[in-house]
Amino acid sequence: MSELSVKKVKTAIVGCGMISHIYIRNLTKLFSIIEVVGLCDLNPAAAEEKARLYGVEKIMTLEEIAADPEIELVVNLTAPVAHYSVIKQMLEAGKHVYSEKMFTTELNQARELVALAESKGLMIAVAPDTVLGAGIQTARKLIDTGMAGRITSGLVSVTRNQNLNSEMFRFLQKSGGALPYDVGVYYIGALIALLGPVEAVRGFGAPALHHQKELLFDAVNGSDWTIPGNNTLTAGLRFACGALVSVHFNGNAVGAERHSFELYGTEGTLEIGDPDTFGGPVRLIRPENEAVTMPFTHGYDGRNMLPDKSPFDGYGNRGVGVADLAWAIRRGRQNRLSKEYGLHCQEVLQGIDEAARTGETYLVQSRCQVAPLASGFYSSVFNGTGRGDAERSLID
Ligand SMILES: NC(=O)c1ccc[n+]([C@@H]2O[C@H](COP(=O)([O-])OP(=O)(O)OC[C@H]3O[C@@H](n4cnc5c(N)ncnc54)[C@H](O)[C@@H]3O)[C@@H](O)[C@H]2O)c1
Repeated sequence: MSELSVKKVKTAIVGCGMISHIYIRNLTKLFSIIEVVGLCDLNPAAAEEKARLYGVEKIMTLEEIAADPEIELVVNLTAPVAHYSVIKQMLEAGKHVYSEKMFTTELNQARELVALAESKGLMIAVAPDTVLGAGIQTARKLIDTGMAGRITSGLVSVTRNQNLNSEMFRFLQKSGGALPYDVGVYYIGALIALLGPVEAVRGFGAPALHHQKELLFDAVNGSDWTIPGNNTLTAGLRFACGALVSVHFNGNAVGAERHSFELYGTEGTLEIGDPDTFGGPVRLIRPENEAVTMPFTHGYDGRNMLPDKSPFDGYGNRGVGVADLAWAIRRGRQNRLSKEYGLHCQEVLQGIDEAARTGETYLVQSRCQVAPLASGFYSSVFNGTGRGDAERSLID
């Protein structure tokens, strides 16, 4: 079957806040498989603004989306506290759902949604879709082809001033806003996409510092707050493949973000760029060689692939995971960022919390596998002036 003859997947987007800019822009222009037919937000003005900016015709309520038999896929870009109810309502209406991270704020909610999707034969995809970007896919190719040998250990770290960030991104003041869930999930998602499932975790956790209103970004922010949950985690993960990985997430740090991501193999070391981006550079260090920045083997390297520029281009190729799900619907295959992947990322993170609370090892129950994208397809052609064939890597 020629992909050109494939019927587009009619898609509605729920949640038209900050991150919706890059999703709506990419989903309306970048992927031949997607047709965005409606936007929805509790705040109609937010949906109207995005509809005007990106040329989407309909503003819809959740009930109208649920009742529209033509809409097959719903993209959930609401804040984490709303994820469970929006996903549930859309699954009950028979829609496949892509959701921003975290999947849900409570593990039992994620398990319930996985069971609901299974009972209805529907797929859920869960961000981060940066793991489908050129950086992580190139690292995966290097691991799969043995260039670093067998991965025996690794370490990942990210630090941010999450209190300061929560002045600007106000959803961070609520459940799901602490650094391990808001940002650490990019590192956990990438590790799982590279190494497979985690069997067991141990860890320590510390809460966020109470935030005294500083009025740096927003003069109407209201009272002081404390971001719920552990804002700092240190942990050890044991993967089913045998690799042991040290994790360090600190949302109580100050200054600009610092991050690192290293995997140590029996034949070489991989230094991986920021997994919160699509095109973090991948360096291979083998004995008796200089460290080499490896050429990307895949497309979606985070650069803007569209002819016009936007202030949101820094957010990369978000939407790739939605397109993967849309192709999965048409091809009758499993989507890559599957419900099992979303559940596993969440269980590993909340398992660290549980291990920190009890002082015991937490044995992870869920399992998942993330299939790699086909290599050799790129984002741009003609010296970067035309759209490339990267979407072909998403078809099967
Ligand atoms: N902001 C970022 O840089 C960023 C980056 C990556 C991922 N994310 C993720 O994207 C999601 C949204 O983040 P954001 O920054 O766009 O938040 P935001 O607060 O700017 O936007 C969320 C929007 O969802 C709407 N909404 C909430 N509940 C709703 C419901 N039940 N029905 C319809 N609309 C509803 C709100 O009115 C708001 O307009 C979060 O899960 C976040 O983790 C954000």
